[in-house]
Amino acid sequence: MNIVITGATSGIGKQLALDYQQEGHTVWAIGRNQKQLDELAQHGIRTGQVDLLSRDQTLAWFNNLERVDLAILSAGSCEYIDMPDFDSNLVSRVMRINVETMAHSIEALLPLLRKSDAPHLAGIGSSAAYVHLPRAEAYGSSKAAVAYLIDTLRISLEPENIAVSLVCPGFVETPLTDLNDFPMPSLISVEAASNCIRKGLAKKSREIHFPKRFTMLLKLLGILPRPLWVKLAQRLRKT
Ligand SMILES: NC(=O)c1ccc[n+]([C@@H]2O[C@H](COP(=O)([O-])OP(=O)(O)OC[C@H]3O[C@@H](n4cnc5c(N)ncnc54)[C@H](OP(=O)(O)O)[C@@H]3O)[C@@H](O)[C@H]2O)c1
Repeated sequence: MNIVITGATSGIGKQLALDYQQEGHTVWAIGRNQKQLDELAQHGIRTGQVDLLSRDQTLAWFNNLERVDLAILSAGSCEYIDMPDFDSNLVSRVMRINVETMAHSIEALLPLLRKSDAPHLAGIGSSAAYVHLPRAEAYGSSKAAVAYLIDTLRISLEPENIAVSLVCPGFVETPLTDLNDFPMPSLISVEAASNCIRKGLAKKSREIHFPKRFTMLLKLLGILPRPLWVKLAQRLRKT
């Protein structure tokens, strides 16, 4: 397969790039960090230095490719809101990196996916979007937007037989979560996350979420009557 992975210079995207390369696929790793891209190139991975926040740069770079069978959109970031400060710049930053970069990538990649016999588009969301979590006003909103975007694309692209998957990880050990200053239940390694994602994508699963012991709990909390969850979350915040 010809596979494009955004956010491939670090964390989940990087592990996916290494593993798919190991499996014998042709992999294009996209990111901004040239040192990391050079390291990936040493493994035989093709690389592209692209700032996905720039629509022009993204469209121009992908215009050089011929065909893509699987696109995995993993570029993203996470920042939390700390009351009493509500920083709208932080909200804009997170929305831009998590949602806008994905939209630019989708626009650039759809024409290339349409040239494949079995096209498959996967977006990395988050299980944080299953339930409203304290401090996650910006991150949770951005991942709820990603889930809506990807789930709606699945409807719109069905007539063209383009498979669409939403990936919703729990906590995965990466440079992104290394910054977290709170306990992370059911934290898993990036290797385990890559295994779950690759297995789910091989089955063309619509939603890939893991580790189940954590994501099922969040899903359950997400279907509680909203006032009940709000009360519970308010209590949790105080502990
Ligand atoms: N780790 C977790 O526990 C977890 C849980 C749920 C969801 N997720 C989601 O999984 C995805 C990957 O997370 P991670 O933990 O692997 O994070 P990470 O290690 O911080 O990697 C983030 C990646 O995004 C890329 N990126 C950010 N802004 C970019 C831009 N403007 N243009 C191009 N690339 C850009 C970075 O590349 P450069 O720095 O080279 O630009 C980097 O490769 C994210 O969408 C995250 O929200 C992670």
